[in-house]
Amino acid sequence: MKKQPVIHLICAARPNFMKVAPLYHELVRQGWARPLLVHTGQHYDANMSSDILADLNLPDPDIYLGIGSGSHAEQTAGVMLAYEKICLADPPDYVVVVGDVNSTMAAAITAKKLLLPVAHLEAGLRSRDWTMPEEINRIVTDALSDLLWTPSPDADENLRREGVPEERIVRVGNIMMDAFEMLRDRISADPILASLGIPAGGYALVTLHRPSNVDQAATLRPLVESLQTVADHLPLIFPVHPRSRERLKAFGLWPQLERNQSIVLLDPVSYIPFMSLVQQARLVITDSGGIQEETTYLGIPCLTLRPNTERPITILEGTNALSDASRLIGQVREILDRETQLETRPDLWDGQTAGRVAENLKNALQAGKKI
Ligand code: UD1
Repeated sequence: MKKQPVIHLICAARPNFMKVAPLYHELVRQGWARPLLVHTGQHYDANMSSDILADLNLPDPDIYLGIGSGSHAEQTAGVMLAYEKICLADPPDYVVVVGDVNSTMAAAITAKKLLLPVAHLEAGLRSRDWTMPEEINRIVTDALSDLLWTPSPDADENLRREGVPEERIVRVGNIMMDAFEMLRDRISADPILASLGIPAGGYALVTLHRPSNVDQAATLRPLVESLQTVADHLPLIFPVHPRSRERLKAFGLWPQLERNQSIVLLDPVSYIPFMSLVQQARLVITDSGGIQEETTYLGIPCLTLRPNTERPITILEGTNALSDASRLIGQVREILDRETQLETRPDLWDGQTAGRVAENLKNALQAGKKI
């Protein structure tokens, strides 16, 4: 009997863990492969990494590269140098990368140059905004990947237009919904909101971390002012990303947020309490990618502080709308004036994505005679 094929599941930063976890658990359950969790260490604080792994019932990583923070070049090169050694010493049978962070692209380049097969989970998303580091990561990763697992028809179409052969494109749905469904009961029972003394439906949840929003005072100041105006109508709960906290303090904007009685500032919270805050929010204001999808799935109105999105299905079929500092308060008022929206579920966002991914991976390995 052949030995079990080894699958590297690459994770690096906060939004990766909820994409890797359902696949890891599914592969363990099916038993035909040996999934190894490879954590690059791009995010390393407990509340950005190990707490989230624990919420998702993931073990400690099998391989930890420990690359930490740095410039784009430093992070990318750090992962490539460290991961190349791992692959040379003990090459895996397949490398699975998820999402669009620097480590996603770095691991894909490294593996492909060693002629190892690569699969990209959450392939095909495009914002067409080349100022976003994630857009470059997505395009490079997709260009290199042997299997492109997409969440939505627009992603399939983007890849076709870029000349990706049809047989590489496999629509599997949105794996983050699997993570939510896996933990739905614990999310619903989480005490975080009660501990803050705010009623369900009585607040807007805010997240903000994109360099284009937080790195320049000229952009961040008007955003903070418009958030303060929103807080006059609806209390805000704002778990603050380390990058944003540092910028808010550097630009002297932190004290006014802290003084505002209608704004609750928190450290970043782990997956289960965070999703509990999303689930019970009246609306969400964010610049995250994944939260646009989670709010669509849960039927929570979402205002995305960006000029574009790589997830247009959340606008066309979901609860999302683009926003900016000048439009925000008007859009919030509109949401508060209308009935709550119904949950919308784009096709294949059904909590069953990990099963489809595992099946496709198994077929690929069988075709390559690895099983
Ligand atoms: C990264 C991803 C982004 C993703 C985001 C989610 C890239 C290009 N960006 O952005 O796509 O949406 O993660 O959070 O890969 N820091 C800490 N502790 C940590 C991690 C970071 O304090 O555990 C601080 C450091 O000062 C670091 C800064 O946050 O320099 C930014 O971290 P980095 O991983 O470079 O980018 P993110 O803004 O988190």
